[in-house]
Amino acid sequence: MEKIIVKGGCKLSGEVNISSAKNSVLPIIAASILSGDKCYIRNAPMLEDVLVICDVLRSLNAEVNINRTNNIITIDTSKACTGEPNPELVRKMRASFLIMGPMIARFGKFRISLPGGCNIGTRPIDLHLKGLTALGVKIKLGHGYVEANTNKLIGNKIYLDFPSVGATENIMMAAALAEGETTIENAAAEPEIEDLAHFLNSMGAKIKGAGTDTIKISGVKELKGVTHTPIYDRIEAGTFMVAAAITKSKIKINGIMEEHMKPVIAKLTECGVAMEIQGESIIVDGDRDLRPVDIKTMPYPGFPTDMQAQMMALLSTVKGTSIITETIFENRYMHVGELKRMGAEIKIEGRSAVIEGVDRLCGAEVKATDLRAGAALILAALSAEGVTAIGDIYHIDRGYVEIEKKIQMLGADIRRLKE
Ligand code: UD1
Repeated sequence: MEKIIVKGGCKLSGEVNISSAKNSVLPIIAASILSGDKCYIRNAPMLEDVLVICDVLRSLNAEVNINRTNNIITIDTSKACTGEPNPELVRKMRASFLIMGPMIARFGKFRISLPGGCNIGTRPIDLHLKGLTALGVKIKLGHGYVEANTNKLIGNKIYLDFPSVGATENIMMAAALAEGETTIENAAAEPEIEDLAHFLNSMGAKIKGAGTDTIKISGVKELKGVTHTPIYDRIEAGTFMVAAAITKSKIKINGIMEEHMKPVIAKLTECGVAMEIQGESIIVDGDRDLRPVDIKTMPYPGFPTDMQAQMMALLSTVKGTSIITETIFENRYMHVGELKRMGAEIKIEGRSAVIEGVDRLCGAEVKATDLRAGAALILAALSAEGVTAIGDIYHIDRGYVEIEKKIQMLGADIRRLKE
């Protein structure tokens, strides 16, 4: 088992480059199933989750080539079959379920094990299934499997009870090859959905409104293979912004879209962090007296749930009382216990966490309980007195490209220990 060891207290300086967004690349790899032609993904982040979805496609006979030298993933699904994807891989990651929409659209039938993922809530798939049913898919559930069949997908009007990211993506991908027009209302508006729509449109799809709460899709008969470079990872960028704030340092982060960062920039500004945008870079100066803030996680363009744990680490070190309310997932406070081991003062009251900032966190033995929780522990450790050893870091590797190397380059005392 590997660990990340951090000796806290170092100031950070220099520049860091942000990778492409995990949450864009996963649906885009799934969407490549919609065409029998080859698709190329440039600047692909070599993350565990990305490798898993590539293996899921391989288990369906797709040829997937991962070139780590130039970070290009080539996907050829011309020989893909309707057989069942490897259930062990599917259970490793919830995003595996994103292949449902493309598989049913291309082959008319599909059987897949119910998905797994981070332990951050029950995360049902009812909205995905409701949407696909509205397009004419017959769904059978049983023995831990979803079985889907259709003679023909036909466009429809779909109103999502909640703007689920995955459900919006699955419906959008299936509707791209349906007959007629589909409208998704109360759709998720995350930048990654817009990126997926760009990918699909360059394949020949006709999608309008992605990135807003109403998406209109005019179905087409077929889609062609394309080359795509995904957007930058706004959560990785946000994590490094908090790294500057929590260590009271000034760093330059390369690879951001200002528009996508607005919710995080707004909160950090309220907190007192100074920031300056320079094109696709941001300079973050955390060497200030910071103020406590209240945060409520919301669907985009609200504050992202994927930045909640990192902000909690920061607010644990900011004098005064901050309140975080998690509205997206019902069980996303598993990092609280670990932060408390490091001296944080946090109380959970229902969906809210009340944080009393302390003068200093202290190093401890902790465990990453999920992906962003793990990132939060690294951030806490950077500011803490003494040494922190973070275990179960496979969670972190699911979503951050060589995080310890990137932080090391900024001058921190951090290393990966193979036990
Ligand atoms: C995606 C992101 C994840 C992020 C999340 C919320 C990817 C690969 N992952 O996950 O990093 O934290 O968006 O921004 O893009 N829900 C239902 N029924 C459904 C679907 C979802 O009740 O059919 C609920 C979930 O349980 C959860 C909430 O809706 O409470 C949000 O889920 P969703 O937006 O679907 O998140 P994911 O697509 O799984």
